[in-house]
Amino acid sequence: MPSLVLEKLAKRYSTGTAALKDVSLTVPEDQVVALVGPSGAGKSTLIRCVNRLVEPTSGRILWDSADIVALDSTGLRKMRRRIGMIFQEFALVDRLTVMENVLSGRLGYVSFWQSWRRRFPQSDIDNAFRLLERVGLTQYVDIRADKLSGGQRQRVGIARALMQEPELLLVDEPTASLDPKTSRQIMRLIVELCRERKLTAIINIHDVPLARQFAERVVGLKEGAVIFDAAPDQLTNEALSQIYGAEDWEEAGQRALMKFVQHGEGAKIEDQRMAGAR
Ligand SMILES: Nc1ncnc2c1ncn2[C@@H]1O[C@H](COP(=O)(O)OP(=O)(O)OP(=O)(O)O)[C@@H](O)[C@H]1O
Ligand SMILES: [Mg+2]
Repeated sequence: MPSLVLEKLAKRYSTGTAALKDVSLTVPEDQVVALVGPSGAGKSTLIRCVNRLVEPTSGRILWDSADIVALDSTGLRKMRRRIGMIFQEFALVDRLTVMENVLSGRLGYVSFWQSWRRRFPQSDIDNAFRLLERVGLTQYVDIRADKLSGGQRQRVGIARALMQEPELLLVDEPTASLDPKTSRQIMRLIVELCRERKLTAIINIHDVPLARQFAERVVGLKEGAVIFDAAPDQLTNEALSQIYGAEDWEEAGQRALMKFVQHGEGAKIEDQRMAGAR
């Protein structure tokens, strides 16, 4: 599989905000990169430019010898099938079941009429079952999405993204609304799946310890520019201060601990649910 190359990628929104300033970045095939940085650094803008949910202002995005920025609408539609996306807000259809939400990951492939009548090929249904088993949701196949916990909803989001058999995975704050323990489980699952399926991935993540633990490379973005790019063990307190400004990392550590204590109960419930699902 190819590597992903961003060449002088820039995005200026109509409001005048320069969200990305000539970002150049190469992600070799099969690499899982964590993109960290303070709020407003341009992390979401960067990954949304890759599948052109946000139109770049200038620059190139090369994938498999195509420039994604230059694709026409037909080319872009085909390209998007190869790019999976997992969102923070899970973006599930609440009134549909877990299975239906996962199958909706095939919408780029089945015809409009097939999808409208919710008729999917048996091979797709088999594949959805396998994925739901892999993410630990076998017992929830027929449950409506709005009956699930946050962690379970994100597992559905992961299964749905993989349903289209992507080569490239874009993940935007997958754990932002989850408690710390569930966050770790979800992050571990995403990274394991990337390795199993040899996916190239960019994962936006606020949570620096998670990025450190699971990614093989960490890229730090600040005010639309790359200011750190190294292995996780290079992410010293000094580097973190550069990325996040004058933040005191001791204090940030204390806050993370408090969050863990406050969410402790929630994490336990999630764990029991997941144990029940297996
Ligand atoms: N649709 C938009 N229109 C105008 N400005 C935008 C838009 N989306 C983002 N911005 C601005 O672009 C900059 C980068 O935003 P972006 O959402 O990419 O940051 P981020 O690193 O993902 O932040 P967070 O960690 O809070 O999600 C910010 O200044 C933001 O206000
Ligand atoms: Mg964001």
